[in-house]
Amino acid sequence: SAIARSNASSSARIPCRNYSVDSGPERKVAVLGAAGGIGQPLALLMKMNPLVSKLALYDIAGTPGVAADVSHINTRSEVAGYAGEDQLGKALEGSDVVIIPAGVPRKPGMTRDDLFNINAGIVKSLCTAIAKYCPNALVNMISNPVNSTVPIAAEVFKKAGTYDEKRLFGVTTLDVVRAKTFYAGKANLNVAEVNVPVVGGHAGITILPLFSQATPKANFSDEDIKALTKRTQDGGTEVVEAKAGKGSATLSMAYAGALFADACLKGLNGVPDVVECSYVQSAVTELPFFASKVRLGKNGVDEVLELGPLSDYEKENLKALKPELEASIEKGIKFASQS
Ligand code: NAI
Repeated sequence: SAIARSNASSSARIPCRNYSVDSGPERKVAVLGAAGGIGQPLALLMKMNPLVSKLALYDIAGTPGVAADVSHINTRSEVAGYAGEDQLGKALEGSDVVIIPAGVPRKPGMTRDDLFNINAGIVKSLCTAIAKYCPNALVNMISNPVNSTVPIAAEVFKKAGTYDEKRLFGVTTLDVVRAKTFYAGKANLNVAEVNVPVVGGHAGITILPLFSQATPKANFSDEDIKALTKRTQDGGTEVVEAKAGKGSATLSMAYAGALFADACLKGLNGVPDVVECSYVQSAVTELPFFASKVRLGKNGVDEVLELGPLSDYEKENLKALKPELEASIEKGIKFASQS
């Protein structure tokens, strides 16, 4: 029975909370910004993940309530809430994966880059703490503008002497989730069977879905592909406008964030052939950071996969996105080196 198994697996350190012995090694996941619009449903989804044995929920305020609530769910992980900067170290200590959805979201009329001034500082201070308390954790960066916050994180880790490019990820999974949904909807395919790689970055035209590589194949006109590409690029704005000032995507983002963290955990646990798109340090193009398919392994990034064959339309878009992505990367690096 579950209870017998739980007793058999319990240790002195974690009495009777370790419900499953079938879920692999102990893994601690920390969510920074856990009381927010993304953070709360993400905490719920991570609590439902049997690969997690400890779930640390951190925010500047509000986490004790979220943690108490989520902790009553009868799944494997032991949940703890941490509020305020003096508890950040405890939240991070021993983490295998740190997910960061901390910071302000967009309002109508804003680009992701408009968030830079506030979120860059938040990301910098959180990453400084990660370097100190869990330098080996895989970092899943959700805070926007991802195109700049990932380079900021890299610079902070470099300064601290802890940077490992295999362990830093910009979460672009929501772009893939949207591309799959929109493609399957338009082609009338079973969305569960659909795959669409999305490369580049995570803002406007830097989001480049590769519908020429989508499976199963659908017979779309050039106009259809253009419309699907634009809808994928503007998916976030669609939600921002519909929420009319109350923020950006939170539920679909929590789903996407949970999916990506799960892939990271599977990779750490040695599951073979775990491949997801992510914005990482990359030699796939001349830009130092770029999103593409990544094979996840026991140390994080196992392999950054090549882009594969592109259509003429995708080649054009790739060329067009590079100057914007490059500027966003430089902006992040400059911020980190100046402050
Ligand atoms: P929110 O405002 O609802 O929640 C943000 C949370 O971060 C709040 O609870 C706040 O207290 C917390 N926070 C602020 N400063 C903090 C600090 N120093 N340490 C820890 N926590 C801190 O915002 P929401 O909607 O959850 O969005 C969060 C971020 O995720 C935004 O930057 C948004 O742009 C980004 N985002 C990224 C997406 C992606 O695809 N990568 C998609 C959607 C949103």
